[in-house]
Amino acid sequence: MRAVKLLAALVSSAWVLVRGQADDVCKAQDRTYSTEALPAGAYQPYDKLNPVVGKLSSKFYITVVNLTPHRIKLESTHSYQMDTFDFGDIPQGRARQNAVKYRGTWYTRDDAGEAYYGIEGTDKKFAVRVKSYIPSSDPRRVVLDLSGMGLGQREYVFPGGETAVSLVITGSSRFGFQASLRHGPGNWMRKMYDVIRDRLVRHLIMPGTHDAGMSRITNKIVSIGSEENTQNQGINIYDQLRAGSRWFDLRVGSVHPNNNAAQNNGFWVMHVNDEMATLAIGNTGESLDDVISEINRSTSENPGEIIFFTVRYLVGRYEFPDRGPIMWNDAIVNDFFVKLRAINNRCPNLDTTTGFQNQKASYFMDQNEGKGCVILLLNGHLDGRESPGDGIYNINRMNIQDHWSNKMQASDMAPDQINTWRSVARGGGPADYGGFLIGQWLVTPDALASTAYTLQNFAIQPTNPSLYWAGVNGIDPEHWPNVLLVDYIGVQQRDQWAWDRLSAELYTLAVGMNLYMASENCDVGKRRTPLLRRGGSEGVEDREVSWNGILFANGTKLDNPPPTLHPGRAEILRNGTVLGNGTVLEESIPNPWL
Ligand SMILES: *[C@@H]1O[C@H](CO)[C@@H](O)[C@H](O)[C@H]1NC(C)=O
Ligand SMILES: *[C@@H]1O[C@H](CO)[C@@H](O)[C@H](O)[C@H]1NC(C)=O
Ligand SMILES: *[C@@H]1O[C@H](CO)[C@@H](O)[C@H](O)[C@H]1NC(C)=O
Ligand SMILES: *[C@@H]1O[C@H](CO)[C@@H](O)[C@H](O)[C@H]1NC(C)=O
Repeated sequence: MRAVKLLAALVSSAWVLVRGQADDVCKAQDRTYSTEALPAGAYQPYDKLNPVVGKLSSKFYITVVNLTPHRIKLESTHSYQMDTFDFGDIPQGRARQNAVKYRGTWYTRDDAGEAYYGIEGTDKKFAVRVKSYIPSSDPRRVVLDLSGMGLGQREYVFPGGETAVSLVITGSSRFGFQASLRHGPGNWMRKMYDVIRDRLVRHLIMPGTHDAGMSRITNKIVSIGSEENTQNQGINIYDQLRAGSRWFDLRVGSVHPNNNAAQNNGFWVMHVNDEMATLAIGNTGESLDDVISEINRSTSENPGEIIFFTVRYLVGRYEFPDRGPIMWNDAIVNDFFVKLRAINNRCPNLDTTTGFQNQKASYFMDQNEGKGCVILLLNGHLDGRESPGDGIYNINRMNIQDHWSNKMQASDMAPDQINTWRSVARGGGPADYGGFLIGQWLVTPDALASTAYTLQNFAIQPTNPSLYWAGVNGIDPEHWPNVLLVDYIGVQQRDQWAWDRLSAELYTLAVGMNLYMASENCDVGKRRTPLLRRGGSEGVEDREVSWNGILFANGTKLDNPPPTLHPGRAEILRNGTVLGNGTVLEESIPNPWL
């Protein structure tokens, strides 16, 4: 009797073990990524950047990105006084640019429409509520209502004419969902340690920030660089790290008095047309000291990440920068290295026999007793000088392909970037792309255009929103860039740079790309995608930051709104309302979908 029981116990535990293993193995037939055809999207036409023309625009987009193993199904829509209200399903791994066009050239307070979505196979629902508010300086708004998923509601202003508000959703019913309405924890890599620890660095996907220290203009050199044409970010390095950036394009120079090359007035972030030119045009941003204390603050609050700082320039310029660069002598290089040694969690003496991109993520995340790595990669005019014992490395310790499109229009830049990352395959074996690819999702307007329309508007109107439909649909489980390098990370609404006014599209995209997209490639990871795995206690779901409040476009925040409060909701569908199936109401009815 006892023997039978023992045998039964043995059999059942062995069976659990087998089942456990089977559930943990990546299998091609488990792939959920959909290749279904989707309607083509549209880039913002260039003339809409002109604020006068843009203001007259009545056409906008709401992009929804699905980085979950579930189809996102459109359940119904209704709209009133809209010429276009084109919403549809979003298949797994894909994005859909939904279109709305208000009737006529201007709109009244009655214009409204709602799209109701369900996440297939789950009880989770969300709604997109489009409305106009008259009178208002920001009449064109959309509410993303994810209260049905426990993920809050947020009212957004369209950043410009004929451009988009974007919603990124990742996770799964087993794993829990997260969305881009607000940022998650500042240690997104550590939060998915178990998902990425065995992946090679060249199989990770992370946000990056272009001209990262140019979050303000400090005028340490006398030139014509202004906020409009020289500032590339709205938030400093500390907030960029919280917003998910892990790859920094930092450009640092020393500033010298006009009559004294031997005197160094300090190290500053710079953005100039050409640091080696006789006459450099641009300006300075944050001081190196500020950058260092911002990094230290971030790594002390959120240890355990892999953070790359590439440092370009590394030359001096006179205050009036009209006599060429001042090449750094040993004394200046030494002063610079002394400064860098104040950065905490540097990783000295890394194995340089293997390109950094070919190490597993855990190699870096486990350094400094699990506090992770701040990896300094010098890419300036220092003749290959480095100091591995200080964690200061030459850029060539990593095989990097840094692809810059050098185009003024997002519609030219985007296909060029996508072609570059589609030309390299990710996966096991000899066909695997061995390098680390920087996708520069940014445009390069000429001085006239950037001064007139501002780098900020170029970023938040045509460029960043196009990442979420064109860029996302150019990515699949075999093709992606390692870094998505952007200007004005986190900024959704012009000049709204306070932490609570930022929006987390790129953060959520990066989380979802690692969690969902790369996990569907069984050559990248041998384990089953965490989104389908049973048990699933590991991962990013974050009850500690769970929030089901409302954030209004003016910044007002309600943390505990009454459950009946849904801004933009249509209680009554008026006579003339068009339903998703084409029926036009001939009399007003209570909204049947509430
Ligand atoms: C680096 O961080 C530490 C701890 O956060 C701080 O004490 C130190 O002052 C920082 N160094 C610099 C140069 O900011
Ligand atoms: C912001 O908007 C909300 C909702 O429309 C409104 O109740 C609140 O008074 C507004 N706050 C300010 C400061 O305008
Ligand atoms: C359209 O949808 C409405 C609401 O669900 C329904 O009452 C109506 O019968 C539908 N019309 C058609 C032509 O299917
Ligand atoms: C609905 O609107 C149409 C056209 O504007 C009008 O002819 C009709 O009388 C309205 N019906 C009701 C019940 O108000």
